[in-house]
Amino acid sequence: MRALVTGCAGFIGSHLVERLLEEGYHIVGIDCFTDYYSEDMKRKNMEGFKNNENFEFIEKDILNMNLMPVLEGVDYVFHLAAQPGVRASWGKNFEVYTRNNILATQRLLEACKGLEIKRFVFASSSSVYGDSKELPLKESLYPKPLSPYGVTKLAAENLCVLYYKNYGIPVVSLRYFTVYGPRQRPDMAFHKFIKAVLEEKAITIYGDGNQTRDFTYVSDAVNATVLGMKGEPGEIYNIGGGSRISVNKAIEVIEELTGKKAKIKYEPFQKGDMRDTYADISKAEKGLGYKPEIDINTGLKKQTEYVRNLRV
Ligand SMILES: NC(=O)c1ccc[n+]([C@@H]2O[C@H](COP(=O)([O-])OP(=O)(O)OC[C@H]3O[C@@H](n4cnc5c(N)ncnc54)[C@H](O)[C@@H]3O)[C@@H](O)[C@H]2O)c1
Repeated sequence: MRALVTGCAGFIGSHLVERLLEEGYHIVGIDCFTDYYSEDMKRKNMEGFKNNENFEFIEKDILNMNLMPVLEGVDYVFHLAAQPGVRASWGKNFEVYTRNNILATQRLLEACKGLEIKRFVFASSSSVYGDSKELPLKESLYPKPLSPYGVTKLAAENLCVLYYKNYGIPVVSLRYFTVYGPRQRPDMAFHKFIKAVLEEKAITIYGDGNQTRDFTYVSDAVNATVLGMKGEPGEIYNIGGGSRISVNKAIEVIEELTGKKAKIKYEPFQKGDMRDTYADISKAEKGLGYKPEIDINTGLKKQTEYVRNLRV
């Protein structure tokens, strides 16, 4: 079986490639090393598999390459390439988000028309929900993103459904809820918090720290993505980790794990940030057989080890 993984050098994409290689897939990976964070870090993400004989790497931009030969004989497409990050998505940067999230997805879907793809799994986001008063968040809620990033992920999700309805591309969208663990992007909260605590530097928290997130450990997100291959075409599934805790609580766990006290600076809430996220994962449980396995203490312990080793 042959699978295409876009964004294969990224945080979640690199873990997914490792898992699919273990399961015996031949992988074609695409990544163009966008400059959102260091290319060096992304290249390190691929260390473990870049020389695997079942891995082929194409260093190209989805928007600027011939996708047809790459898609030849591909059974599964996992589309993770994107411009992530809520806070950077305002202003002039929005152009980068529209390019890498909307246009790139449309281009890939166009190229899949008429091919024998078994599933096209799309990495969507909890950011599509916005600040819903109704919790836990269900897929049936009307999505009202709070950030330009969320708008682009929702647009891409809608494109996926359009291409399923009109061209029969069997698309499955997964709304990941804050994924964490080794290789987490350096702009993400846990990465920044652990690094700052280890280096005895200040942590900035936007808001009072009582905002909650449904944190999903990366191996759980990857399990869900692999299970997405059995998802109902045209459907959307929430992928949460079942570890909904406040940001303040997460910092307490980091303090215990590092044996160091965090120096916290509170700043006003940021535009685009959701107050709470909490996934209703019953649809993914029933439809995909998904069950998160890693609790927050275990997951943060692994991420702390990773960040500690990054520093040496
Ligand atoms: N990390 C999370 O908590 C989270 C939560 C919800 C959704 N997601 C989604 O999951 C996916 C992966 O996120 P991540 O955190 O691993 O991000 P990441 O930035 O680490 O990985 C994305 C990769 O895509 C590549 N890329 C971007 N645009 C490209 C293009 N046009 N052509 C080729 N390569 C391109 C980048 O170079 C990068 O390596 C994204 O679609 C993101 O929106 C992530």
